Amino acid sequence: MKQKILITGATGKVGEAVTNILKKELLDVELVLLTSDIKAIAPIKNQKVIQAFYEDVKWMKNLIYAEKPNVIINCAAMTNVDACEVDHKLAMNLNAILPETLAKAAKVIEAHLISFSTDYIFDGENGPYDEDATPNPISFYGKSKLAGENAIKVELNSNYTIIRTNVVYGTSSYGKSDFINWLINNLENEKKLTIIDGQWCNPTYSEDIAWAVLKIIENKNFGTYNVAGKGYYNRFEIAELVAEIFEYDDDLLTEIPSKDLVQKAKRPDKGGLIVLKAEAELGIDFLDLKNGLIALKFMVNKKYEYN
Ligand SMILES: NC(=O)c1ccc[n+]([C@@H]2O[C@H](COP(=O)([O-])OP(=O)(O)OC[C@H]3O[C@@H](n4cnc5c(N)ncnc54)[C@H](OP(=O)(O)O)[C@@H]3O)[C@@H](O)[C@H]2O)c1
Repeated sequence: MKQKILITGATGKVGEAVTNILKKELLDVELVLLTSDIKAIAPIKNQKVIQAFYEDVKWMKNLIYAEKPNVIINCAAMTNVDACEVDHKLAMNLNAILPETLAKAAKVIEAHLISFSTDYIFDGENGPYDEDATPNPISFYGKSKLAGENAIKVELNSNYTIIRTNVVYGTSSYGKSDFINWLINNLENEKKLTIIDGQWCNPTYSEDIAWAVLKIIENKNFGTYNVAGKGYYNRFEIAELVAEIFEYDDDLLTEIPSKDLVQKAKRPDKGGLIVLKAEAELGIDFLDLKNGLIALKFMVNKKYEYN
């Protein structure tokens, strides 16, 4: 049976990776891509592109009722953690009200809603966290994302899938940046960087997220899943590994204590996610950072011979 899958935030790092995998792997699928940047994506066969008005609840619901997708994948979010600290309204609209609206509409048309969340719903006192850990967000981004999770759970009972992830990296044809991309660009340009010894995490290759979404759609896995890379690294260790794999000068890197970095929003220090449930139930062996960076290097077409 032909499936119709609607994806919000289609030009985002995760939205793009998910779109690409579904196009490649599902034979009989029609994609409806929602984006706030309509000029960015060309409509092709079996792929409709729609200008999104994420903050317009009525518009959003009507669109879902008109399109009637079998699956809704919510990749749209306000992901700039410091900006969320400043613009609470926009953060709530995108990270809480949008998932709530999608959940309400999904309930009416009996679609499977898959929505993304983050390890920033935790305080970072004792990560990495499993799916059952108690949230305690310390930033407005984290609070708004937790509100989004809770709204989905209230609306859909147990018929939803929430995927929590952290520190996503991967290619982007729409110029979306991330921490690893920022490191690569700066090290490439021989810029000296001071990097903190904290904010522990398990960086996640965007393609691994896309594979997880595919499995979740195929198997109809409901509930909450941590989807993230293997391993556990602080930010300086990540920078060192990027320098090693991409063959940049690691003398450009200086380690500083986390307390010396001033950021508008607080971040979890011991964040990160335990992925045993997703590995067991979805049958995916997530890449650790070293192998993820090798894959990324291959993808960005940098010749690399690893010994
Ligand atoms: N990136 C990470 O490290 C990370 C970590 C943990 C969790 N997550 C979660 O994973 C999901 C996907 O994130 P991502 O990494 O793909 O993020 P992203 O690259 O920033 O993409 C988010 C997309 O949301 C849409 N959007 C609409 N209004 C926006 C606004 N005001 N600010 C920013 N984006 C807006 C945009 O897509 P269109 O213009 O195409 O609509 C944008 O490309 C989100 O739920 C995020 O919270 C991400």
